[in-house]
Amino acid sequence: MSDDRRARPLVSQLLSERLDRREILRGVAALTALQVLGGGPLSRLVAATRRQEERAATSLGFAEIRRGRDERLHVPEGYEAQVFLRWGDPVCDDAPPFDPMKQTAAAQSRQFGFNCDYIGYAPKPWNSRNARRGFLGVNHEFTIASQMLPGFTKAEDAKKYTRAHAEIELASLGFSVLEVAYGEKGWEVVRPSAHNRRITMLDTEIEISGPAAGHPRMRTKADPSGKLAIGTFCNCAGGLTPWGTFLSCEENFQDYFGDVCSEPAEAANHARYGLKPDTHYYRRFFERFSLAREPREPNRFGWVVEIDPHEPTARPVKRTALGRFRHEGAACCLDADGRVVLYSGDDDRGEYLYRFVTRDRFDPENRAANRDLLDAGTLSVARFDSDGRVTWLPLVHGKNGLTAENGFRDQGEVLIETRRAADLLGATPMDRPEDVETNPVTGLVYVMLTNNTLRGTKHPTDAANPRAHNVHGHVIELHPPVVKGARDHAADTMQWEMFLRGGDPKNPEDGADYQRSPISDDGWLSCPDNCTFDGRGRLWIATDGAPHTADGIYACDTLGPGRAHTKLFLRSPVGAEVCGPFITPDDRHLFCAIQHPGATTGSHFAKPGTRWPDFSDDLPARPSVVAIRRRDGGPIGD
Ligand code: FEO
Ligand code: CA
Ligand code: CA
Ligand code: CA
Repeated sequence: MSDDRRARPLVSQLLSERLDRREILRGVAALTALQVLGGGPLSRLVAATRRQEERAATSLGFAEIRRGRDERLHVPEGYEAQVFLRWGDPVCDDAPPFDPMKQTAAAQSRQFGFNCDYIGYAPKPWNSRNARRGFLGVNHEFTIASQMLPGFTKAEDAKKYTRAHAEIELASLGFSVLEVAYGEKGWEVVRPSAHNRRITMLDTEIEISGPAAGHPRMRTKADPSGKLAIGTFCNCAGGLTPWGTFLSCEENFQDYFGDVCSEPAEAANHARYGLKPDTHYYRRFFERFSLAREPREPNRFGWVVEIDPHEPTARPVKRTALGRFRHEGAACCLDADGRVVLYSGDDDRGEYLYRFVTRDRFDPENRAANRDLLDAGTLSVARFDSDGRVTWLPLVHGKNGLTAENGFRDQGEVLIETRRAADLLGATPMDRPEDVETNPVTGLVYVMLTNNTLRGTKHPTDAANPRAHNVHGHVIELHPPVVKGARDHAADTMQWEMFLRGGDPKNPEDGADYQRSPISDDGWLSCPDNCTFDGRGRLWIATDGAPHTADGIYACDTLGPGRAHTKLFLRSPVGAEVCGPFITPDDRHLFCAIQHPGATTGSHFAKPGTRWPDFSDDLPARPSVVAIRRRDGGPIGD
């Protein structure tokens, strides 16, 4: 979009920016009535504007790629993709070379982990916008034994699984911090650097802070203090704080604990989070994964972990004030008065959207003053009403039934059982809330809702989740009220509206809608998962589980004629999902994670669906971080 066009917003943009929702609805109704009546000059103006908007389509200038499936990664003409970090690459300066046939936990603890997910880039120094040197923080979400261990081909092979195998897996999970720089050879890891480190599920000590720290229900035999966990895992999406720390979110922890719970009082809690007695084999080797022996260990997972890349010896911290659920991500923004606001989805069918507002203000002058900002504040859960309003319901002990009579003796218990507390408040069950991001230009908030095949059966349809058997997912836009010229993310209520409904607009059964934009056959999407914004306020959406094509990255404008007009920018190799898109502060580089490439039906270590990215018979498929740039060095997407 030219600067001139940006300076002169179109009618639809003015409508969405200047009017509140009721006024928008009234205005649209009035305009529609005029059109139905044959139309005077205004209706002709509206129709002409719409035609003009449809022709102008989008500000995104790249040549859209084709949908489909094959073994390679695809980006548009004029762009190049550097495979920057692969599973097994050295992270710590002393890491041994990757040998997938003779992997050990000791080696994996120093190397890049498996199934990369969230990616954040934190500039160096912390308060700069340096896009050429900084820290990359990457999550390693989950393992697939048959894709990473030689000799394993299927689930039943778990019988031949040993403690050594389990230790390799636990070492491959968690987080990687790398100091990185961009130069003539592209992105490189800075070496030596004391900042390069792995945080694993095997042995990294993680502090527990906030209202649930030290709570009796957080104490275990191994940690009677309830303040020190070993490791973090299931790290899915995340966030970057204004003071340059990473937030890594623990998501599907429920899949790794087993046996019958020895504390009946905890059993119902575990059931609410989806734990099952026979889920995983880790309990054969490690007491802490057995609910019979350590019934409270799962309460120490499902949190947001803060990691400081600038302080290489600082312990990561689980910030319990942010609640315990299957945290997808933790998108941060600043409120008008300088408080930090985090939005976070609970990724499960029929789960909720949450928001946390810090009690104290961010201090841009004194980094150390922000160190424990995330330990005090108010966690709320969202109720979406059919009148276009979203109400934030505070999860505060002693209020709204969150009392001892209902089994919440203190704020620690409200947080440990966040889901049950949110049930009591009447939050709206959503279609799998995944990533949430705030548009840096408009301050509007975008919520990715991946899909929900149980909608219409287990969860009745409603205004915010309108499609039964929702296989394609949708994106909701939140409009915080404007106070003193800025969006008030801490407001008790805001407006919401549907931004797009995924699916093929040419197939009426899909019920897709992209603001009536004429989407191409390649540009419609399914299963929005992670997302990010560029500096011009355009939304970049990564997909997970698209049924008709390989997963990819789609981009669209959020305002103007290209509002919700998605275009396919990147397509992953077969078997993969795309995670963690992140655009550097200068808009010149887009990082993304290619997770579980080659993991097609019937595939395994020796017979992957693709050997991307190395295409060497000696190497398996390797989950990797890719850095994408324009060959001419211009801004991504323009
Ligand atoms: Fe790890 Fe919700 O995806
Ligand atoms: Ca995800
Ligand atoms: Ca994101
Ligand atoms: Ca996902």
